[in-house]
Amino acid sequence: MKKNTVATFAEMKVRGEKISMLTAYDYSTAKLMDSSVNAILVGDSLGNVMLGYEDTVSVTMEDMITYGGAVARACQNAMVVIDMPFMSYQLSPVQALENAGRLMKEARANAVKLEGGETVAEQIRAITQAGIPVMAHIGMTPQSVNAFGGFKVQGKDAQQALQIVRDALAVQKAGAFSVVLECVPAALAGYITELLDIPTIGIGAGSDCDGQVLVYQDMLGLFSDYVPKFVKQYAKLGSAMKQAFDEYDAEVKSGAFPSVDKSYKMDDEIISLIKEKLQ
Ligand code: KIV
Repeated sequence: MKKNTVATFAEMKVRGEKISMLTAYDYSTAKLMDSSVNAILVGDSLGNVMLGYEDTVSVTMEDMITYGGAVARACQNAMVVIDMPFMSYQLSPVQALENAGRLMKEARANAVKLEGGETVAEQIRAITQAGIPVMAHIGMTPQSVNAFGGFKVQGKDAQQALQIVRDALAVQKAGAFSVVLECVPAALAGYITELLDIPTIGIGAGSDCDGQVLVYQDMLGLFSDYVPKFVKQYAKLGSAMKQAFDEYDAEVKSGAFPSVDKSYKMDDEIISLIKEKLQ
């Protein structure tokens, strides 16, 4: 199996082939996903779906290294992109490079992702110049939820749309190998996709992007706190899991589980011998 790399992304854009990406946060899930998709994102969305925070602001470098390392150990095909968490890169290009380096060395990422456009161009430049591939992320950037006043579609008016286009051009110029467009109107995403040489990966950004990414719990119907409009559920694993948990509970209580074939055997004589010895 040939590992997907930044070169694969570039070639796919040239050939007009769509790039598939999903999030994963653990070894078992990543192993199942590895041969199905081009890239796996260890997103800081793990703050929501794995840790139960209401947003991604509290996610730490240690969280990303722990979960990212588990995913990287499972992947032989998919490129593994690990998110840089809030405040791990905003302070300076030096801070950004140091933390990107940790994700590469300690978690064995193939690339890192960070949020922002023009304002983080210097950080992207410093990281890519050190030989670390960067996926940028613009539009609705969840780490800025407090500045946006909620998780809202971005780029609906001309001023915002122009800024998003400027951000896209800035991250490309700074050396990003691809860019996530999150929650922007489909027409704007389509325009940016045509304008850029690097691939765009959409989430809530319509079908004209060069690729798509979804949070795996969302597309499997595993996360029930809220379901964004752009999510398609390819399975309803949440209800299947709930049914299995209920069945297990009932069988434990009735004694149906574990059955004889799920138990280990020993000679009856040994139990008799023990009983005798204890008398
Ligand atoms: O953290 C994440 O999962 C992401 C995707 C939503 C793009 O950044």
